[in-house]
This record gives sequence, structure tokens and C-alpha cells, in this order.
Amino acid sequence: MKKYLIVANWKCNPQTLKEAEKIFNFIKNKVKKTKNEIVICPPFIYLLKFKNSKNLKLGAQNCHFSKNGGAFTGEISPLMLKNLGVKYVILGHSERRALGESDEIIFKKIISAQKVGLNVILCIGETLKEKKANKTFKILKKQLNFIIKNDIKNIILAYEPVWAIGTNNPCKPDDLKNVLIFLKGINKNFKILYGGSIDSKNFREYLKLKEINGLLIGSASINIEEFRKIIYG
Ligand code: PGA
Repeated sequence: MKKYLIVANWKCNPQTLKEAEKIFNFIKNKVKKTKNEIVICPPFIYLLKFKNSKNLKLGAQNCHFSKNGGAFTGEISPLMLKNLGVKYVILGHSERRALGESDEIIFKKIISAQKVGLNVILCIGETLKEKKANKTFKILKKQLNFIIKNDIKNIILAYEPVWAIGTNNPCKPDDLKNVLIFLKGINKNFKILYGGSIDSKNFREYLKLKEINGLLIGSASINIEEFRKIIYG
């Protein structure tokens, strides 16, 4: 049976440690029976309170490009995350790209994160305007340029079309299939997750796709009943 990677991106939620602990502890008790690997990516400040366990791993939503930190006000280094027991880091999320993060900065972050031994989940995806202009593949190729040119290995991709995030309008499985084939054509060893409006009703259609290795889930991941259904695959 295929083992999936199910990644919870809590984004800037919840607003209290108490709520965060409630969600985390609920999931921790549920994951014991799943065959899948579940990764929880809470806001940085809650990471300190959580521990990895069987099938349940910690991830961060971002990190700085300076491996060992230094004079970077307000930033968190990959080494700090690693030393805290964090196993994964999401990089290049479209909500960060929208704040001005370039492919070049993201690439520097990938290099540093991999150097300290974090598993990188690189988010890529086109906007609605780009999709309408039939530029999806062009954009994906551009976002992967550094990865291809430098032959970066062991990267986990998360295809997250920007128009599908938080919209209740996920990429249709048939359309997703074309993107997955395109990405596997670039490198057949890419592990690929899909993200964008996944919930407990639609997730199975996505996990059925041969090329998919898992899901990156936003809003449904902080709803304990929704997420409970999804983690069993
Ligand atoms: P969503 O977010 O599941 O709420 O659409 C996904 C993401 O941004 O990673």
C-alpha cells in the first residue's frame, strides 16, 4: 500500500497556544493508526512545545537563507529548526512569494535548509492570470529553474495553483494529472504533493492519482474533524 505524506500548513493560526496544543494533541492521538507520514507545520512559536512521534513529524512554514543565523532581525535559521527537532520546511509558499520572496531567495533557502538536513517542501504554482494565458508549464519551469540547473536532489514539490488556495475551487484531478506528468517529465524522482482547497470530501480523488505522493493542506488542517478524516488516507 502506498504511504502518503500529508502536510498540515497551519499558516498564521491558531491565535493561542492552548488551541494549538488542543489540535496537536488530538492529531497525535489519531495518527498512531495511520500508515501515512503526517507533518504538522505550526507557526514557529508553537514548535517549541511539540515533539515528533511515530508517523507525526514537525515542519516549519519558512526559514531564513542564512544556515547558521546571524544579524537577521526577526528571522529563524534552518539550524535553529534542525536543533529543535524539526524535520521539514515549507519554502516558496505563494503567500510568501506574494510578500516579495523571489525564486533566487527561495533557492538560497533550499540550499541552507538541505545543508542542515531539513526535508524541503518547495511550493510552486501559477496564478489565475497565468493559467488563463496558458502559461502554467512556463511558470512551473521558471520556478524550478534553479533546481534543474543545479541538479538539486531529494526535493519534495508541492504543486499549489494560487487560484486554488483557500477558494474551494481545487484543481480538477484530470488537470492535475497533466501537471504531474509534466513535472515527472522534468525529473521522474520528484516527490509531488498537491495543495489547494483539499478537504475531507475531495482528498481521495487526489490520492488516487498514480503520480501523487501526498497533500499539503491549509484550512482543513486546523479543523480537527476534517483533518482526522484525511490523515487515514
Ligand atoms: P488551503 O491552503 O488548503 O486552505 O487551500 C493550502 C495551502 O495554502 O497550503
